[in-house]
Amino acid sequence: MTVTANPRDSADRAWNQADVPPATAVAPLHIGSVVVDPPVLQAPMAGYTNYAFRQVVREFGGAGLLATEMIAARSAMWLETHKGEHPDRLWGVREEARPLAVQMWDNDPENLAQVGRRLAKDFCVSVVDLNFGCPVRQVTVKAQSGSWLLRDPSRVGEIVKRVVEACDGVPVTAKIRLGCADTCRTAVEVAQRIEEAGAACLTVHGRVAAQFFSGRADWEAIAEVKRSVSRMPIVGNGDIDSAETAVSRLREYGVDGIMIARESLARPWIFAQVAALLRGQPKPPDPSLDEQRELVLHHYDLVCQRFGVDRGTQLMRKFACSYAQGIPGAREFRGHVSRVLTRAEFLLVMRTSFPSESRTATAGPEQAK
Ligand SMILES: Cc1cc2nc3c(=O)[nH]c(=O)nc-3n(C[C@H](O)[C@H](O)[C@H](O)COP(=O)(O)O)c2cc1C
Repeated sequence: MTVTANPRDSADRAWNQADVPPATAVAPLHIGSVVVDPPVLQAPMAGYTNYAFRQVVREFGGAGLLATEMIAARSAMWLETHKGEHPDRLWGVREEARPLAVQMWDNDPENLAQVGRRLAKDFCVSVVDLNFGCPVRQVTVKAQSGSWLLRDPSRVGEIVKRVVEACDGVPVTAKIRLGCADTCRTAVEVAQRIEEAGAACLTVHGRVAAQFFSGRADWEAIAEVKRSVSRMPIVGNGDIDSAETAVSRLREYGVDGIMIARESLARPWIFAQVAALLRGQPKPPDPSLDEQRELVLHHYDLVCQRFGVDRGTQLMRKFACSYAQGIPGAREFRGHVSRVLTRAEFLLVMRTSFPSESRTATAGPEQAK
């Protein structure tokens, strides 16, 4: 029986056979006392990088530092004073493996300092990260936070300084875009203020906020930020869509580390592939489609353990859609899975519609197990 290969595998094989020089080992990234080895970071993504997703990434390995979704400092403070439960966004944070970064946003240095101190002292997180890159209206126009603050480099510096003081030795990092808009590219000045304020590392997403996700990430601009600071390591981020791209960005743009976001939602094993290439080893192949289906089911179990079956099923629909990205048959699968309401429906759709090697090879979906 001929088994149709996952097209992503054939791309991998083509690369492995191509005349590409082996990657050499790269230096780990030092974020204060935290050693990030390899210097490959899993990006924070609101609504996605919860404990279940991080657990999946951790099981594959290869990410030197994992990050939570961003939390709103104001909501975290409200929950403290009202003795509420910790928000879902801190799910797992106390117990899970380190190193782990927790990201927060606000525009008030005191709020951020207070929550930062809590994260550092009570939650014992490895890194406290500050968001100055979010382009979403609710965070920018409504709360004058996230990327909104890029128009005011001094304010960013003031915030970082206060949080660094409050975290008392636990490294504080920041994540920015290149500016608010093309007419307001402030990344170099902001980076310098962040460095002076004592941050241990800065991640730069190579787009301005007004772009959201359109256009291409400007890695030359990321390299310019790197050249403009003296001590603080810089992590580059934007449009890394394969392990090979990750390695070449790291080599070509002089950054100290790279961060991967969207591609890891479809391929959480990408970190392990980057790590192998950086060690000079062959890239491990993508899991087979059957293995990928098992992975989605494993992820589903993790989500249901926390949120229960009803909410877990609803939440898992978007993750399942992400996993299927780029696989033949994904469109049909997404059409089905995005409508499931119950566990039984989810399992049925996974069994009958998730792209499968055996089904692709032998015809009708009825032959899938
Ligand atoms: C669904 C989604 C949610 C995101 N949430 C956050 C967030 O909470 N904090 C943050 O700093 N960046 C967030 N980002 C931006 C990513 O961390 C990253 O900077 C951006 O996607 C570019 O990287 P990529 O090209 O590898 O996806 C988010 C991106 C996506 C797609």
